[in-house]
Amino acid sequence: MRRSSSCSSFIYPANMITMVAFLIILSTGSGADASIGVNFGTLANNLPPPRQVAEFLLHSTVINRIRLFDADPQILQAFAHTGVAVTVTVSNDQIPHLTNLSFAQRWISDHIQPHFPSTNIIRILVGNEVISTGNHLLIRNLVPAMQSLHTALVSASLHRRIQISTPHSLGILSHTTPPSSARFRQGYDKHVLKPLLSFLRTIASPFVVNPYPFFGYSPETLDFALFRPNPGLFDQDTKLHYTNMFDAQLDSVYSAMERLGFSDVAIVVGEIGWPSKGDRDQIGVDVATAAEFNRKVMDRVNSGTGTPLMPNRTFETYIFALFNENLKPGPISERNFGLFRSDLTPVYDIGILRPTARTSDPPENNRRSPVGGSSGKRWCVTKSGAETEALQRNIDYVCGLGLDCEPIIEGGPCFLPNTVEAHSAYAMNLFYQTMGRHEFDCDFDKTGEITSIDPSYGDCQYQAEFV
Ligand SMILES: *[C@@H]1O[C@H](CO)[C@@H](O)[C@H](O)[C@H]1NC(C)=O
Ligand SMILES: *[C@@H]1O[C@H](CO)[C@@H](O)[C@H](O)[C@H]1NC(C)=O
Repeated sequence: MRRSSSCSSFIYPANMITMVAFLIILSTGSGADASIGVNFGTLANNLPPPRQVAEFLLHSTVINRIRLFDADPQILQAFAHTGVAVTVTVSNDQIPHLTNLSFAQRWISDHIQPHFPSTNIIRILVGNEVISTGNHLLIRNLVPAMQSLHTALVSASLHRRIQISTPHSLGILSHTTPPSSARFRQGYDKHVLKPLLSFLRTIASPFVVNPYPFFGYSPETLDFALFRPNPGLFDQDTKLHYTNMFDAQLDSVYSAMERLGFSDVAIVVGEIGWPSKGDRDQIGVDVATAAEFNRKVMDRVNSGTGTPLMPNRTFETYIFALFNENLKPGPISERNFGLFRSDLTPVYDIGILRPTARTSDPPENNRRSPVGGSSGKRWCVTKSGAETEALQRNIDYVCGLGLDCEPIIEGGPCFLPNTVEAHSAYAMNLFYQTMGRHEFDCDFDKTGEITSIDPSYGDCQYQAEFV
């Protein structure tokens, strides 16, 4: 994120923040695969390790694409062999260097090739909201840097697998109301956006924009921003009626592109979101409203309705954000855009949790586990009769995530009894506790069960927390 100042009626300044984004593909139930993104910012000191995030996304959500705002090798590594499609970002400061082809080639060989194809990298974004920085060195070099990086991909034979683009704030627009009157800011239109769109068309890559109704609403336009019943906005020139701000923003982008002759270039929504908490006097900022907005955005972009100027289109869309980020500067809302807390519990659900992940407690009458204890603590142990091979896989899986398996290694307090069943129980409990003690965290392909009887013995302590 985001926001440059702008003279438009619904785009307001906010803090410029670097981010990571996650892209989700949802199955809409109609059988069609629609895509939705969730931005994953890393400006926090309490986020789970990348491996745990990757496992969480895979097992507990329907997310199967991710976008990073950098090319963090740890995160790329964490998503190896997951099938999750990954978009990475080159930081703004690298842009001037990238116009040097050998530098671009080195960037690809340093940041992409060690991870590709084991990590399914699908797109590289060059910089973040570069035009909004107002930095002419970056702006002037943006398209040449993208071209150079593309050439580097060609020389590595990766250009058919990996796209190049760059995301923009809506600060690139002027005259956004009504949508049909929108154009790119003068100067940038001919000198940056026209060559950019021309290049994107050539390489069949999308134009990426970050619309934020949240930064554009006033008390009077809250319902318009939230897709609620409202008088809407009538565009005199096209005779089209707008019922929500999202459509109006996307059509403004479309009109500006069309004005330059690029209405055929695909649009991707790089960031969009609504915080669940704000300053006390801020209207329209709470958990229910954030859930409402994000759910409606997802429905909208996946419905195939499109917008008044782009009927029947779907838009690959990245919601901001995956996590609340405690180190983000600015107002309280900046730290509360997340769908999830840092302990992986949902702030709210917009339909991206897998069904088993929706309730964290097993139904009372369906608990197969012993329920003798009354301390309120629970542990995950191996189910009797479980196959040894399956239990070994559980050990390999949990310890392979990088969780602390020292206690079951020779010399550790839980090494004895040296059996697969005992070691597996320790590892499975470790995973269950670490992941937040959801019932599904103890499933392990039906080889685990939850117990209220403490499995600890001697010096071997099985971690547990009060439920
Ligand atoms: C281009 O990049 C290469 C590799 O990083 C570097 O060795 C070379 O000095 C750069 N050339 C210029 C003109 O900056
Ligand atoms: C959009 O879809 C509707 C329903 O399938 C169809 O009637 C209409 O012609 C389509 N419009 C465009 C512009 O493709």
